[in-house]
Amino acid sequence: MEDAERCAEHGRRLPCAECRKLRNRRIGPSKGSSKICAVVAIGKNRELGYEGKLLWHIPDDLKRFKQLTLGHPIIMGRKTFESIVGYLGRPLPERTNIVVTRDAAWKHEGVIIASSLEEAIAKGRELDEQEVHIGGGAEIYKQALPLIDKLCLTIIDDTKEADTFFPPYDNQFTKKVFEEAHEWNGLKYRWVDLERA
Ligand SMILES: NC(=O)c1ccc[n+]([C@@H]2O[C@H](COP(=O)([O-])OP(=O)(O)OC[C@H]3O[C@@H](n4cnc5c(N)ncnc54)[C@H](OP(=O)(O)O)[C@@H]3O)[C@@H](O)[C@H]2O)c1
Repeated sequence: MEDAERCAEHGRRLPCAECRKLRNRRIGPSKGSSKICAVVAIGKNRELGYEGKLLWHIPDDLKRFKQLTLGHPIIMGRKTFESIVGYLGRPLPERTNIVVTRDAAWKHEGVIIASSLEEAIAKGRELDEQEVHIGGGAEIYKQALPLIDKLCLTIIDDTKEADTFFPPYDNQFTKKVFEEAHEWNGLKYRWVDLERA
């Protein structure tokens, strides 16, 4: 009886922390499988959103988001997905929308559902050998950060009241591969693409 409750691999009580560590190591920053990318807009304090909504709507930046994510699977937390449906009236078009939720009863037409981030990434990788995108929000970015290979940031030279923030990233993403400065209606922002060194 006691044996049945222990991990066959490591002899530890189930669920085995060692197995979880190994699984996480295997899934994290891509080696030989689809790249994991995130296209994210943040303010000076890494602000992401407020009351379920985006903080800035910069037309050229929304175009860049579309351009970079188009054709690839995009993984979102249930709250971000519902916020997008609120804006667009439908899931993100021309991208497979993968929604992460703990609610087994949740569903939405045309959407792939995953009960964990790992499951979502595995499903994304089955669909696209090149790139899988992490579409946020804060909860999902925080969990996905160790798995992300490339961050395409829009850093907006502004601060706003926010209730969700992108996690600290500069220690992990030290290689700048692209930077471009822009301005829209007096609002300065930079596109900064970062990778791990
Ligand atoms: N600035 C940007 O680029 C950007 C991008 C995306 C989003 N946002 C903003 O971010 C905000 C939303 O972020 P948020 O952190 O509140 O919510 P979120 O990350 O979008 O969604 C959180 C939900 O995802 C599910 N979830 C999270 N971790 C999970 C796990 N390990 N396993 C299974 N399900 C999991 C849960 O859904 P259930 O409750 O259904 O179980 C949880 O409530 C909005 O304001 C949005 O506008 C900004």
